[in-house]
Amino acid sequence: MQQMEVKDNGLIIEAESLSFSYEHQESLNLTLNDINFKVEKGEFIALLGANGSGKSTLARQINALLPLQRGKLLVNGFDAGIETNMRDIRRACGMVFQNPDNQFVSSLVEEDIAFGLQNYDYPQAEISSRVAQVLEMVGLPGFEQRNPGFLSGGQKQRAAIAGVLAVDPDILILDEATSMLDSEGRKEVLETVQRLHREHHKTVVMITHYVEEAILADRVCLLSAGRIIADGSPREILTQPALLDQTQLTAPFAVRLFFELANKGVNLPEIPLTTNEIVRQLCQSK
Ligand SMILES: Nc1ncnc2c1ncn2[C@@H]1O[C@H](COP(=O)(O)OP(=O)(O)OP(=O)(O)O)[C@@H](O)[C@H]1O
Ligand SMILES: [Mg+2]
Repeated sequence: MQQMEVKDNGLIIEAESLSFSYEHQESLNLTLNDINFKVEKGEFIALLGANGSGKSTLARQINALLPLQRGKLLVNGFDAGIETNMRDIRRACGMVFQNPDNQFVSSLVEEDIAFGLQNYDYPQAEISSRVAQVLEMVGLPGFEQRNPGFLSGGQKQRAAIAGVLAVDPDILILDEATSMLDSEGRKEVLETVQRLHREHHKTVVMITHYVEEAILADRVCLLSAGRIIADGSPREILTQPALLDQTQLTAPFAVRLFFELANKGVNLPEIPLTTNEIVRQLCQSK
């Protein structure tokens, strides 16, 4: 019998030489090209890259929505190359997508969350307490009887996250989950994700086009044409405008301001990531 689970090495996602083509397995037209991507349990990763660079494909590969073609992929200890592990991998990875309106299957928040639980044969007697628990976790206590269609954008995404949390995934993958929201909705969702990471120890992989959001992560990975071209702390990656430019991304406002000021002969001691850091440095240099 094949071994189902492998030894715990602290990594919750372990991709080695991972390649994927939508055409066929032997195609040279690779959407993911020799990806090495390792995520520790409890880490918060921001995955950045231009349109079409392969971010969603990598997310779908991790979540076993796409079959493993080449390379090695372990998710939560389960080998993605073994067909019988698919259900465990999908349960371990909760996916939240861009458009909250496409994520609901019911006109009642509680039914929507219960649906996922029933799919995993969760004991009927515990369903309503579990629904209340996950709504609390996303800051929507008492929203059981609400119609998800009538919630604000931020509330909708948080209700969608509650649905995903119901079956207790260790990993949350957010695929541009804030891109359709206004700044208030974005803030609500980001604060929720940070709380789930800090207080509930969820591993987070957040795909985003907003470099300012990536500042919140422990680590930033840059994807370009199916390859990971940079992997480091937000400070290492986001303070390099030329590197970001390769992926059609613009450096955070504070970084751009630092270089503009330097052009005018105003040199701050270190490259800041946020406006607060600029203000602190300017006040200190007075
Ligand atoms: N189902 C599919 N069938 C064939 N090709 C696909 C499919 N999905 C994506 N692709 C192609 O794979 C490449 C990577 O797409 P992917 O959606 O992973 O990129 P992305 O980085 O998520 O882009 P975006 O920022 O626009 O969401 C693109 O060239 C895209 O056209
Ligand atoms: Mg995408």
